[in-house]
Amino acid sequence: MVIGKPFLTVNQIQDKVKELAEKISKDYEGKDLLVVALLKGAFMFASDLVKAIRVPLTIDFITASSYVKTGTSGEVKVHCDVREDIRNKNVLLVEDIADTGITLNYIRERFLQREPKSLRICVLLDKKERRIVDVPLDYVGFEIPNEFVVGYGLDYDNKFRNLPYIAIFKKTT
Ligand code: IMP
Ligand code: MG
Repeated sequence: MVIGKPFLTVNQIQDKVKELAEKISKDYEGKDLLVVALLKGAFMFASDLVKAIRVPLTIDFITASSYVKTGTSGEVKVHCDVREDIRNKNVLLVEDIADTGITLNYIRERFLQREPKSLRICVLLDKKERRIVDVPLDYVGFEIPNEFVVGYGLDYDNKFRNLPYIAIFKKTT
């Protein structure tokens, strides 16, 4: 297994997080805001993002998975749902990466059934080339090429989430 040098450095990530938080703060000024972080991948991004958002907010979490090693199973499983009632709330779903779009699309449809006041999606990374399901993304940090990346919450086999930067992961053997 080889972890390359940083593909996105700590500084690049932190600058982008601030930029996204500024936009979000403007868009939700005077409105209620419920941020839902999609775990596990978005834990680091969501934590930095909410620290930089300047409007009052509530935070909740949903744990879901769809990924098996470096390929997607295409099946989404929700292990632990939000505890907040999202009906009539302005919900911002925060995810680490949009890849095929299957996970975000599944969670989006699930949330829309509960009739939130609004539902927007914020992702740090967008691997557009890989998209299978077209899901609307309202806030995007970086568009990245079709490479498997780890760090800053993103994993390979549940490892490397703790790296403070994002690196391209290459499997040897
Ligand atoms: P999707 O349903 O195919 O869009 O997959 C989304 C999920 O796959 C994300 O929440 C990530 O957990 C995982 N994923 C997709 N691409 C990568 C990657 O490059 N590195 C690590 N995880 C990834
Ligand atoms: Mg993941």
